[in-house]
Amino acid sequence: MTKPRLYSGMQPSADSLQIGNYIGALMQWRDLQEAYDAFFSVVDLHALTQPNDPAELREKTRRTAAQYIAAGIEPSKSTLYVQSHVPAHAELAWVLSTLTGFGEAGRMTQFKDKSQRYGQDATSVGLFTYPVLMAADILLYQTDIVPVGDDQKQHVELTRDLAERFNGRYGTTFRVPMPVIQQDTARIYDLQNPTAKMSKSAESDAGVLWLLDDPAKSAKKVMRAVTDSEGSVRYDRENKPGVSNLLVIYAALTGRQIPSIEDEYAGRGYGDFKKGLADVVVNEFEPVRTRALELLDDPAELDRVLASNAARAEAVARTTLGDVYDRIGLLRRA
Ligand code: TYM
Repeated sequence: MTKPRLYSGMQPSADSLQIGNYIGALMQWRDLQEAYDAFFSVVDLHALTQPNDPAELREKTRRTAAQYIAAGIEPSKSTLYVQSHVPAHAELAWVLSTLTGFGEAGRMTQFKDKSQRYGQDATSVGLFTYPVLMAADILLYQTDIVPVGDDQKQHVELTRDLAERFNGRYGTTFRVPMPVIQQDTARIYDLQNPTAKMSKSAESDAGVLWLLDDPAKSAKKVMRAVTDSEGSVRYDRENKPGVSNLLVIYAALTGRQIPSIEDEYAGRGYGDFKKGLADVVVNEFEPVRTRALELLDDPAELDRVLASNAARAEAVARTTLGDVYDRIGLLRRA
């Protein structure tokens, strides 16, 4: 029996992934890769929507791929590749852009936030069509599920709308994918600003836990995380966003339930709790970091793995794109 398909990806927009990427996406990917025929991309074309130094973008692309593998994605089981290695992504994105309404794309909250932040002159057409490229990523692989954090939900919904629109107009061509969002860990917050999402592109580094950072630095950041003056380790998102965020991270990394962690730290101060969490974070990150750095020591081997996985992805993507071109009436080259 063929396994259902899974697709997901991350932008190579920093030297390291942050713990939100790890808990919100990568841990689920690792768990789901057995039951699904999984495709994981490093979406370098998406990363072009931000300013980049070319040499650094190449390096960040390798670093992102190395972290996927180090965190447990197995390139012999799952297809782990670089988006720009498969040209069909950009080609399908063009076709889908002709089916996307201007207003529809303008309603994407991530576009609205980012364009507001960058200002009109620095906002590119690429940033506007970003979700259409993401839809192309997903639809090329006839995807059943898309495991992502909460911030990508709207993009997956647009993807579903585009698939249904295309199917309605030209006959069933695309599978309509479902977003899979782990509700309790869908959004990890910044340690210094626990009502803002933790992000690779945060303005300040103090509240971001990086997978590849020196463990002592990560421990220090946990110890300095913003809490409150109540002093009790208790989950209350509304009134205690800092402590609640730390509890969510603790529970996600240990596989424990929040009440059992609250019980363990009952009557003990935040210092003890943070020390406990710092140990959990360091223990979790240490092997991932060591393995990722090892993989990065041999970039030629990493590039070879990415190339053979891209060939696997390309075969699937080409088939879908060929069907799409036929359906919409593009003349096949003789
Ligand atoms: P990106 O690179 O911003 O993030 C990668 C994944 O990490 C999740 N995530 C979080 N989850 C919980 N808490 C957080 N603070 C947090 N920050 C990030 C994201 O939801 C995401 O799952 N557009 C996508 C990349 C993409 C993609 C795709 C994803 C391109 N094509 C196709 C799925 C399918 C993005 O920018 O993710």
